[in-house]
Formats: sequence, C-alpha cells, structure tokens
Amino acid sequence: MASKQPIDYFADFSHVGIASIGLHFPPLALPIVELAKLRNVDPDKYLIGLGCKEMALCPEDYTVVELATVAAKRALSRWQGENKNIGMIAVGTESAVDMSRPLSAWVAANLGLKGAIRSYEAKHACYGGTLALRQAIEWKLAGIAGQKAALVIAVDEALYEQQDPGEPTQGAGAVAMIIDDPVIAHVEPFSYPWSEPVFDFYRPVGCAYPIVDGKFSLECYCQAVKACYQALINGRDPEKVLAEFHALCFHVPFPKMVKKALASLGKLLNWDEEKINNLFKQKVDPTMDWNRLCGNAYTASLWIAVANTLKNLDQDKRIAAFSYGSGFGSELLTLSAGPAAAQGAWAKDVEEDIKQRHYISAADYQALRKRKTKTII
Ligand code: CAA
Repeated sequence: MASKQPIDYFADFSHVGIASIGLHFPPLALPIVELAKLRNVDPDKYLIGLGCKEMALCPEDYTVVELATVAAKRALSRWQGENKNIGMIAVGTESAVDMSRPLSAWVAANLGLKGAIRSYEAKHACYGGTLALRQAIEWKLAGIAGQKAALVIAVDEALYEQQDPGEPTQGAGAVAMIIDDPVIAHVEPFSYPWSEPVFDFYRPVGCAYPIVDGKFSLECYCQAVKACYQALINGRDPEKVLAEFHALCFHVPFPKMVKKALASLGKLLNWDEEKINNLFKQKVDPTMDWNRLCGNAYTASLWIAVANTLKNLDQDKRIAAFSYGSGFGSELLTLSAGPAAAQGAWAKDVEEDIKQRHYISAADYQALRKRKTKTII
C-alpha cells in the first residue's frame, strides 16, 4: 500500500493577513517631565530610566468605546471590502466597560454592524489583542470564513493608582485591523506561544486599578521573551534566524523593558553587550517611536509598534512581533510586508491625532484624575 502523503493544511489558505489598519490616540497628553515635577522625581528616571516621553490620556467622557470606534472607522474606510462582508468583530481589551456585554457590541452599534457576525471580547491582559488577531487568522486559515473578513481591535486605557511606580508608564490607544487578504502584511500561520499561571499584575473584580508586583513582572516578561524566541530559533544559529527579520517588535509596557528583555535573550545566547546593543539600535529601538508618544496602551501596545514598523516596509520583508500579557500569556508571531505596506496610509492617523491633541499640565492631570476616579468601574 502506498504511504500517505502528509497533508499541507495551509496550502490553500496561507494568504491571510492584515488588509487594513486604523489607529487612534485620545485627545489629551501629558509630557512625562510634568509628571516628574508633580511627583518630585528626577525627570531622567522617567526619560532615561524607563524610556518614557509622553503619556496619552482620555478625558473623563472618553472611554475605550470611543477609542475603538474611531480606530475601527479609520480601518474600514481604507479597506477595499464592504462592511457587509465583516463576519467577525473581536476586541482585545483589559479596560472593558461591562462585565458581561462585550466591548465589541458597543463598537458594532456605533458602526451599524449586525447580522451574521461573531462578536466578542478577548481578555488576557495585554495579550488579548493578539489573541483576537490570532483567532481571526485561524478562522480564515480554517477555510470556514468564506469571503468574510474580521474586524480586530486592540484597545486600552492604562491607568495606575496615583503615585504607583507604574504611573509614569500610563497611556492609551487603539489599533483596528481588518483580517482578510494580506495587502499590508501576511501573518505567517505558525506562531510560538508560552504561558505560565502567575500573579505578576492583575486587577481583581471591583478594583479600579491593577495590583502589580513590578520587579516580578519584569522577570516574567523576560522569561516569556526567552521561551518564545528559543522556540523560534529551535536549535538553529540564532544570528542567522534573527537576520531573517528586518525588525523585532515587542509589547511595550515602557521602552526600557524591551531593552532589558532583549538583553536577557542576548545573555542566554552568550552574546556580548556590543552585539546586543547593536541589535537593539538597528532592529528594536526604531519600532517604538509611536509608543513613546502614547505610553503603555496595553493590548494595543505591540500593534502600535507593528503598525509603525510596517509603514516603511518593502514587500516580503519580515518582522517578528512578541506579545505579552500578565498572568502570564505570550506569543511570538512572524509577519511579512504586503504590497501596500510601504505606502503606510495609517501613519496619517497618528500624525493627525498628535497634531490635534491638547498637552496638559501637572495641575490639569491631577484635576483630571480626581474627576476620572468616579467613572472607573
Ligand atoms: N536617572 C536615570 N535613570 C534612573 C534615575 C535617574 N535619576 N533614577 C532611577 N533610574 C533608573 C533605575 O536605575 C532603573 O533602571 P534599571 O532598571 O536599568 O536599573 C529605572 O530607572 C527604574 O527605576 P526603578 O527600578 O527604581 O523604578 P521603580 O521601581 O520606581 O518602577 C517599575 C519600575 C517596577 C517597572 C514600575 O514602573 C512598574 O511597576 N511598572 C508597571 C509594571 C510593568 O510595566 N511591568 C512590565 C512587565 S509586565 C507587562 O508587560 C504588562 C504590562 O503592560 C503592565
């Protein structure tokens, strides 16, 4: 009897990816030096020690619903398809406005989307947006989506208790992506997940702010980076594997975290400091330019770095994207640029939002926090 040939499950469906991107940053921002003044801290601790620059903030009447809706409208407006062909709306967030009704329902209502659509919210701290995206990709890869596309949104407003060590890392933002033909990026079918059940950062029901074991959270993040990258390298020459990628994007809780994580991976690979620093300078640091303008946007953070990187990318150039969510769950994805990436149509979203946003003072920030406390569930 002839031996069976292995089935290539991805042969017919491998061309799935990001067809359109829309971003949105909220209308307020606090320069990080203003917060340093307020907290009586040397500004260099925030600027150099953490690598933060500006913090995007939502006014009291502005929630993740508005953030997500604007990003989604922008993504839909530059997509070649029609709204009636959306078959899935998946929103990743840890800033939900309801314990039961998914954020996707608010967004769908604002967009007038209803019908034969799977609509839900995905939660795993900052990893939720990536989970939503992976589920949409796998739905398409399975061949059961037909001609339908998915609207995936990663959105968050990251707020810590005032004077918490995490306060300078706060931020907000949304990234919406249409998962369909890989016009902007092909998301490669295989990915490298790693999870460990821990309490590094969590927000119990009824608590307005997260409980954070800061130092432990840094260790967990580094542990996840090492595990995911080791799975990608899989015994091959690490230098050759990393050379395949034009850029390495990471979840960005604050830019220095990413530098620390790369250093811990480099140490594992027995690389010297110069080699690690060169890799950081060439392939990692430039990916975080937009993150420095908005701070930590939790689920959106990685996708802000990815969107920033894709906008300059020639077709077929590959990038790696490392997602991390406390608790903890992580996944390393690989993508390659599609024909429309280099045009970077979505860069105008960031330019417009930054130009129009209002920079507030330390005193304004304190007043805003007082007003916002009342509205957080
Ligand atoms: N000039 C320059 N650098 C200075 C300085 C100065 N005057 N003063 C201090 N620094 C440096 C410190 O040396 C330190 O650098 P190294 O880490 O390289 O040694 C850095 O500034 C930070 O100083 P501390 O360690 O004293 O800072 P901290 O304890 O006040 O807070 C933190 C740091 C624990 C990360 C805190 O910001 C935090 O809790 N953040 C939230 C948790 C977080 O972001 N974790 C990341 C992994 S978890 C995750 O990724 C999920 C998520 O999105 C939250």
